[in-house]
Amino acid sequence: TTSDPESLRDLAVRVAAEAGELAAEGQAGVTVLDTKSSPTDIVTKMDRATEDLIRSRLLAARPDDAILGEEGGDESGTSGVRWVVDPIDGTVNYLYGQPDWGVSIAAEIDGTVVAAAVNVPRRGEMYEAVLGGGSRRNGEPLQAPPAVPLDRALVATGFGYFSERRRQQARVLLEVAPLVRDIRRGGSAAVDLTGVAAGRCDAFYERGLHPWDWAAPGLVATEAGVRVGGLHGGPPANDLVIAARPELYDALDALLAPLGA
Ligand code: IPD
Repeated sequence: TTSDPESLRDLAVRVAAEAGELAAEGQAGVTVLDTKSSPTDIVTKMDRATEDLIRSRLLAARPDDAILGEEGGDESGTSGVRWVVDPIDGTVNYLYGQPDWGVSIAAEIDGTVVAAAVNVPRRGEMYEAVLGGGSRRNGEPLQAPPAVPLDRALVATGFGYFSERRRQQARVLLEVAPLVRDIRRGGSAAVDLTGVAAGRCDAFYERGLHPWDWAAPGLVATEAGVRVGGLHGGPPANDLVIAARPELYDALDALLAPLGA
Protein backbone atom coordinates (compact mmCIF):
# COMPACT_ATOMS: atom_id res chain seq x y z
CA THR A 1 0.00 0.00 0.00
CA THR A 2 1.25 3.45 -0.92
CA SER A 3 0.89 6.26 1.60
CA ASP A 4 0.77 9.30 -0.63
CA PRO A 5 -1.52 11.99 0.79
CA GLU A 6 -3.81 11.99 -2.27
CA SER A 7 -4.61 8.30 -1.95
CA LEU A 8 -5.13 8.70 1.81
CA ARG A 9 -7.49 11.59 1.06
CA ASP A 10 -9.40 9.52 -1.50
CA LEU A 11 -9.87 6.73 1.03
CA ALA A 12 -10.92 9.24 3.74
CA VAL A 13 -13.53 10.73 1.39
CA ARG A 14 -14.91 7.32 0.39
CA VAL A 15 -15.20 6.14 3.97
CA ALA A 16 -16.61 9.48 5.22
CA ALA A 17 -19.26 9.32 2.49
CA GLU A 18 -20.38 5.84 3.50
CA ALA A 19 -20.21 6.64 7.23
CA GLY A 20 -22.20 9.85 6.74
CA GLU A 21 -24.91 7.94 4.92
CA LEU A 22 -25.14 5.38 7.71
CA ALA A 23 -25.28 8.06 10.41
CA ALA A 24 -27.84 10.17 8.52
CA GLU A 25 -30.12 7.15 8.12
CA GLY A 26 -29.85 6.42 11.83
CA GLN A 27 -30.48 9.95 13.11
CA ALA A 28 -34.26 9.80 13.44
CA GLY A 29 -35.25 8.15 16.68
CA VAL A 30 -31.73 7.83 18.05
CA THR A 31 -31.44 7.73 21.84
CA VAL A 32 -28.64 8.06 24.38
CA LEU A 33 -26.79 4.79 24.89
CA ASP A 34 -24.32 5.85 27.53
CA THR A 35 -22.58 8.82 29.13
CA LYS A 36 -18.82 9.27 29.11
CA SER A 37 -16.80 11.88 31.03
CA SER A 38 -19.88 13.59 32.52
CA PRO A 39 -23.69 13.28 32.29
CA THR A 40 -23.70 15.79 29.41
CA ASP A 41 -21.04 13.84 27.47
CA ILE A 42 -23.21 11.36 25.63
CA VAL A 43 -22.74 8.54 23.19
CA THR A 44 -25.44 7.08 20.95
CA LYS A 45 -25.47 3.69 19.33
CA MET A 46 -24.89 5.47 16.05
CA ASP A 47 -21.59 7.02 17.30
CA ARG A 48 -20.41 3.46 17.95
CA ALA A 49 -21.84 1.92 14.78
CA THR A 50 -20.41 4.70 12.62
CA GLU A 51 -16.96 4.41 14.18
CA ASP A 52 -17.05 0.61 13.77
CA LEU A 53 -17.82 1.04 10.07
CA ILE A 54 -15.00 3.57 9.64
CA ARG A 55 -12.48 1.37 11.47
CA SER A 56 -13.39 -1.72 9.49
CA ARG A 57 -13.23 0.07 6.12
CA LEU A 58 -9.89 1.74 6.90
CA LEU A 59 -8.31 -1.46 8.23
CA ALA A 60 -9.64 -3.51 5.30
CA ALA A 61 -7.89 -1.11 2.91
CA ARG A 62 -4.80 -0.53 5.05
CA PRO A 63 -4.33 -3.21 7.72
CA ASP A 64 -1.01 -1.86 9.04
CA ASP A 65 -2.25 1.64 9.92
CA ALA A 66 -2.96 2.94 13.42
CA ILE A 67 -6.34 4.45 14.35
CA LEU A 68 -7.30 6.93 17.07
CA GLY A 69 -11.08 7.24 17.36
CA GLU A 70 -13.27 9.22 19.74
CA GLU A 71 -15.29 6.20 20.77
CA GLY A 72 -12.99 3.23 20.23
CA GLY A 73 -9.65 4.50 21.52
CA ASP A 74 -6.18 3.97 20.19
CA GLU A 75 -5.14 1.05 17.98
CA SER A 76 -1.47 0.82 17.06
CA GLY A 77 -0.01 0.10 13.63
CA THR A 78 3.31 -0.28 11.87
CA SER A 79 2.95 1.74 8.65
CA GLY A 80 3.63 5.24 10.05
CA VAL A 81 0.09 6.28 9.07
CA ARG A 82 -2.42 7.02 11.81
CA TRP A 83 -6.08 7.81 11.22
CA VAL A 84 -7.77 10.25 13.58
CA VAL A 85 -11.51 9.75 13.53
CA ASP A 86 -14.58 11.40 14.99
CA PRO A 87 -17.56 9.36 13.76
CA ILE A 88 -20.17 11.95 14.78
CA ASP A 89 -18.84 15.33 15.85
CA GLY A 90 -21.79 17.22 17.25
CA THR A 91 -23.45 14.29 19.00
CA VAL A 92 -25.85 16.51 20.95
CA ASN A 93 -27.07 18.14 17.71
CA TYR A 94 -27.39 14.64 16.28
CA LEU A 95 -29.50 13.50 19.23
CA TYR A 96 -31.87 16.46 18.84
CA GLY A 97 -32.43 16.00 15.11
CA GLN A 98 -30.34 19.06 14.24
CA PRO A 99 -28.35 19.14 11.00
CA ASP A 100 -24.96 20.39 12.17
CA TRP A 101 -22.90 17.30 12.85
CA GLY A 102 -20.17 15.75 10.79
CA VAL A 103 -17.99 12.73 10.18
CA SER A 104 -14.28 13.61 10.46
CA ILE A 105 -11.47 11.42 9.14
CA ALA A 106 -7.84 12.59 9.07
CA ALA A 107 -4.67 10.76 8.10
CA GLU A 108 -1.38 11.59 9.82
CA ILE A 109 2.05 10.55 8.64
CA ASP A 110 4.57 10.56 11.47
CA GLY A 111 2.31 12.82 13.49
CA THR A 112 1.52 15.41 10.78
CA VAL A 113 -2.00 15.58 9.36
CA VAL A 114 -1.59 15.17 5.58
CA ALA A 115 -5.09 14.35 4.37
CA ALA A 116 -8.62 14.94 5.58
CA ALA A 117 -12.29 14.46 4.86
CA VAL A 118 -15.20 16.04 6.73
CA ASN A 119 -18.69 15.02 5.68
CA VAL A 120 -21.63 17.12 6.86
CA PRO A 121 -24.40 15.02 5.33
CA ARG A 122 -27.40 17.11 6.34
CA ARG A 123 -25.83 20.15 4.69
CA GLY A 124 -24.85 18.06 1.66
CA GLU A 125 -21.25 19.14 2.14
CA MET A 126 -18.13 17.03 1.75
CA TYR A 127 -14.91 18.83 2.60
CA GLU A 128 -11.52 17.40 1.68
CA ALA A 129 -7.92 18.55 1.91
CA VAL A 130 -4.37 17.44 1.31
CA LEU A 131 -1.43 19.10 3.04
CA GLY A 132 -0.04 21.68 0.63
CA GLY A 133 -2.72 20.82 -1.95
CA GLY A 134 -5.58 23.11 -0.95
CA SER A 135 -9.02 22.19 0.24
CA ARG A 136 -12.30 21.57 -1.52
CA ARG A 137 -15.98 21.56 -0.76
CA ASN A 138 -18.00 19.25 -2.97
CA GLY A 139 -15.08 19.23 -5.38
CA GLU A 140 -14.77 23.02 -5.63
CA PRO A 141 -11.63 24.78 -4.34
CA LEU A 142 -12.28 26.54 -1.05
CA GLN A 143 -10.68 29.80 0.02
CA ALA A 144 -11.63 31.57 3.24
CA PRO A 145 -12.69 35.21 2.92
CA PRO A 146 -10.22 37.88 4.11
CA ALA A 147 -9.92 38.79 7.79
CA VAL A 148 -12.24 41.36 9.31
CA PRO A 149 -11.44 43.42 12.41
CA LEU A 150 -12.42 41.83 15.73
CA ASP A 151 -15.43 44.11 16.18
CA ARG A 152 -16.87 42.89 12.86
CA ALA A 153 -16.11 39.22 13.43
CA LEU A 154 -18.72 36.50 13.81
CA VAL A 155 -17.02 34.21 16.29
CA ALA A 156 -17.96 30.57 16.82
CA THR A 157 -17.10 28.77 20.01
CA GLY A 158 -18.05 25.68 21.96
CA PHE A 159 -18.35 24.44 25.50
CA GLY A 160 -16.90 21.37 27.16
CA TYR A 161 -18.75 18.74 29.14
CA PHE A 162 -17.50 19.58 32.65
CA SER A 163 -19.34 22.20 34.68
CA GLU A 164 -16.13 23.84 35.98
CA ARG A 165 -14.82 24.13 32.42
CA ARG A 166 -18.12 25.65 31.34
CA ARG A 167 -18.06 28.18 34.15
CA GLN A 168 -14.62 29.31 33.00
CA GLN A 169 -15.80 29.36 29.36
CA ALA A 170 -18.74 31.54 30.38
CA ARG A 171 -16.34 33.95 32.12
CA VAL A 172 -14.28 34.19 28.94
CA LEU A 173 -17.42 34.74 26.88
CA LEU A 174 -18.33 37.66 29.12
CA GLU A 175 -15.16 39.39 27.89
CA VAL A 176 -15.37 38.30 24.24
CA ALA A 177 -19.06 38.86 23.43
CA PRO A 178 -19.05 42.68 23.86
CA LEU A 179 -16.06 43.04 21.52
CA VAL A 180 -17.24 41.07 18.47
CA ARG A 181 -20.09 41.20 15.94
CA ASP A 182 -21.73 38.17 17.53
CA ILE A 183 -21.14 34.72 18.93
CA ARG A 184 -22.30 31.35 17.57
CA ARG A 185 -22.41 28.09 19.49
CA GLY A 186 -23.12 25.72 16.64
CA GLY A 187 -22.56 22.43 18.45
CA SER A 188 -19.89 20.82 16.29
CA ALA A 189 -16.25 21.82 16.20
CA ALA A 190 -15.94 20.16 12.76
CA VAL A 191 -18.78 22.29 11.37
CA ASP A 192 -17.35 25.39 13.08
CA LEU A 193 -13.84 24.86 11.68
CA THR A 194 -15.01 24.06 8.15
CA GLY A 195 -17.37 27.01 8.61
CA VAL A 196 -14.40 29.37 9.03
CA ALA A 197 -12.95 27.92 5.82
CA ALA A 198 -16.28 28.43 4.05
CA GLY A 199 -16.88 31.97 5.39
CA ARG A 200 -19.93 31.03 7.49
CA CYS A 201 -18.17 32.62 10.42
CA ASP A 202 -14.94 34.58 10.74
CA ALA A 203 -13.27 32.80 13.62
CA PHE A 204 -13.55 29.92 16.04
CA TYR A 205 -12.03 29.27 19.43
CA GLU A 206 -12.56 26.57 22.01
CA ARG A 207 -10.73 25.18 24.99
CA GLY A 208 -10.77 21.48 25.85
CA LEU A 209 -10.95 19.92 22.39
CA HIS A 210 -9.31 16.63 21.46
CA PRO A 211 -7.27 15.75 18.35
CA TRP A 212 -10.26 14.04 16.69
CA ASP A 213 -12.21 17.32 16.98
CA TRP A 214 -9.68 19.37 15.04
CA ALA A 215 -7.47 17.00 12.97
CA ALA A 216 -9.56 16.73 9.79
CA PRO A 217 -11.47 20.05 9.83
CA GLY A 218 -8.29 21.83 10.95
CA LEU A 219 -6.48 20.75 7.78
CA VAL A 220 -9.48 21.77 5.65
CA ALA A 221 -9.37 25.21 7.27
CA THR A 222 -5.58 25.57 7.04
CA GLU A 223 -5.59 24.66 3.38
CA ALA A 224 -8.30 27.27 2.77
CA GLY A 225 -5.98 29.99 4.13
CA VAL A 226 -7.13 29.96 7.75
CA ARG A 227 -4.58 29.92 10.56
CA VAL A 228 -5.37 27.06 12.91
CA GLY A 229 -3.34 26.92 16.10
CA GLY A 230 -3.23 27.28 19.83
CA LEU A 231 -2.07 29.98 22.21
CA HIS A 232 0.60 32.36 20.87
CA GLY A 233 0.49 30.72 17.46
CA GLY A 234 1.58 27.30 18.76
CA PRO A 235 -0.01 24.12 17.46
CA PRO A 236 -3.67 23.42 18.22
CA ALA A 237 -3.95 21.86 21.66
CA ASN A 238 -6.36 20.78 24.35
CA ASP A 239 -5.55 24.14 26.00
CA LEU A 240 -6.97 26.13 23.15
CA VAL A 241 -7.75 25.92 19.46
CA ILE A 242 -8.09 29.17 17.52
CA ALA A 243 -8.98 29.38 13.83
CA ALA A 244 -9.15 32.59 11.83
CA ARG A 245 -7.38 34.46 9.06
CA PRO A 246 -3.95 35.48 10.46
CA GLU A 247 -4.71 39.11 11.44
CA LEU A 248 -7.88 38.12 13.25
CA TYR A 249 -6.13 35.13 14.79
CA ASP A 250 -3.59 37.46 16.37
CA ALA A 251 -6.31 39.73 17.75
CA LEU A 252 -8.20 36.79 19.27
CA ASP A 253 -5.01 35.26 20.64
CA ALA A 254 -4.14 38.56 22.33
CA LEU A 255 -7.64 38.75 23.82
CA LEU A 256 -7.87 35.12 24.95
CA ALA A 257 -4.35 34.48 26.27
CA PRO A 258 -4.64 36.66 29.41
CA LEU A 259 -8.13 35.29 30.12
CA GLY A 260 -6.83 31.72 30.35
CA ALA A 261 -9.38 30.96 27.59
C1 IPD B 1 -18.16 18.13 20.67
C2 IPD B 1 -18.54 19.19 19.67
C3 IPD B 1 -18.85 20.50 20.36
C4 IPD B 1 -17.71 20.97 21.22
C5 IPD B 1 -17.34 19.90 22.23
C6 IPD B 1 -16.99 18.60 21.49
P1 IPD B 1 -18.71 15.55 20.14
O1 IPD B 1 -17.81 16.92 20.04
O2 IPD B 1 -17.51 19.37 18.74
O3 IPD B 1 -19.11 21.53 19.44
O4 IPD B 1 -18.08 22.14 21.89
O5 IPD B 1 -16.21 20.37 22.96
O6 IPD B 1 -16.66 17.61 22.45
O7 IPD B 1 -18.64 15.13 21.59
O8 IPD B 1 -20.07 15.91 19.72
O9 IPD B 1 -18.03 14.61 19.21
